[in-house]
Amino acid sequence: IKTVKDVALAGKSVIMRVDFNVPMKDGVVQDDTRIMAALPTIKYILEQSPRSLVLMSHLGDPDKDAKKAQEKAEKDGKAFDKEKFIAGKNRMAPVAAYLESKLGKKVEFAPSCMGQKAKVDSLPAGGVLMLENTRFHKEETAKDAASQEVLAKELATYGEVFVNDAFGTAHRAHASTATIAKFMKVNVGGFLMEKEVKYLDPMISNPPKPMTAIIGGAKVSSKIAVLESLLKNASALIIGGGMAYTFLKAQGHTVGKSLVEDEFIDTAKSLLSAAAAQHVKIILPVDHVCGDGFSPDAKVTNVPGLDIPDGQMGMDVGPKTIALYTETILASKSIVWNGPVGVFEFDAFAKGTETVARLVADATGKGAISVVGGGDSVAAVNKFNIADKMSHVSTGGGASLEFLEGKILPGIAVLETK
Ligand code: 3PG
Repeated sequence: IKTVKDVALAGKSVIMRVDFNVPMKDGVVQDDTRIMAALPTIKYILEQSPRSLVLMSHLGDPDKDAKKAQEKAEKDGKAFDKEKFIAGKNRMAPVAAYLESKLGKKVEFAPSCMGQKAKVDSLPAGGVLMLENTRFHKEETAKDAASQEVLAKELATYGEVFVNDAFGTAHRAHASTATIAKFMKVNVGGFLMEKEVKYLDPMISNPPKPMTAIIGGAKVSSKIAVLESLLKNASALIIGGGMAYTFLKAQGHTVGKSLVEDEFIDTAKSLLSAAAAQHVKIILPVDHVCGDGFSPDAKVTNVPGLDIPDGQMGMDVGPKTIALYTETILASKSIVWNGPVGVFEFDAFAKGTETVARLVADATGKGAISVVGGGDSVAAVNKFNIADKMSHVSTGGGASLEFLEGKILPGIAVLETK
């Protein structure tokens, strides 16, 4: 993709999509990873003496978030104040203030995405303006193109150059991520977008071999497409987490009361045969750490073999499986990791995922390229404090998953190519 480095920005007005969809609590930013990740592009643009820089992002899903919270409040018999809820979770002003503190430069705020042209034009030279949550406008996510275009056209009047640095939202075909590009003459990526593509793309095109894909998480259903895509390039596929038990059941093993998606047993079988046909080594758990229920203080039982007895739930991998992981991961030249291999949020079941994180870090230290994507595995590397030992930790959850599935992401497809 072309980036901000490939176009002239001096004297130009710039409109930039960022993904500042950060966790918020009572109007306070809880994790600034995505804000910090956009800073290099913002700073670079400002160093080029632009006319102005307008920033836009969504923050949560105001309607959906409020509905969920209201349902929960009703269930708990508590009062619910929608406005207060949105102000604590979905308003962009505290994010703009946070950005201002990190940027060391005034960030103006506009309370809407519509009707701001005069405000943009009145910014001082090089001034920065952050717009209110794009998802406060139903046009942002509208299914029909005509509705989206209403918002996209308006946003397009705020800049001469469109910069998309919102990798985390690149899988959404929304007014501010993709449709806006139709109304702009110049559409380029930021440095974060460039970096994400630089690390993720080789994993589905031509990764250094041997390549190991570690795919975990609760459900097979959400990971089938990525498993099929990664099979094309992987030398080994580690399948862990809740989804592993559907595969074990497909192989004829007993799984006790572990999580299983029965309707995916046939899919699991075909994936296993496809892997065998392509000579991809599949590594499923060969021993388990089980609990008597899904709880942090479940009674822990080590199950030394493949079969899980009745009444037991597989919640982490055992030492023999960890030995297989060690051998495979340390021999890899590239590694892509999406999804934990156990219930790492519960200390008693965290060892497998912690070991994977440390092994990927060690392999990286020895020269392997490692890419971690997906909310839960990113949370794991953060929990074990080794994010900086990975080659790349993606800022995208759904976006990195869809990228690895081989899908063309709408927010990237609209950018000019070199
Ligand atoms: C994310 O957090 O994955 C992105 O910001 C996209 O958010 P969304 O799933 O609400 O579209």
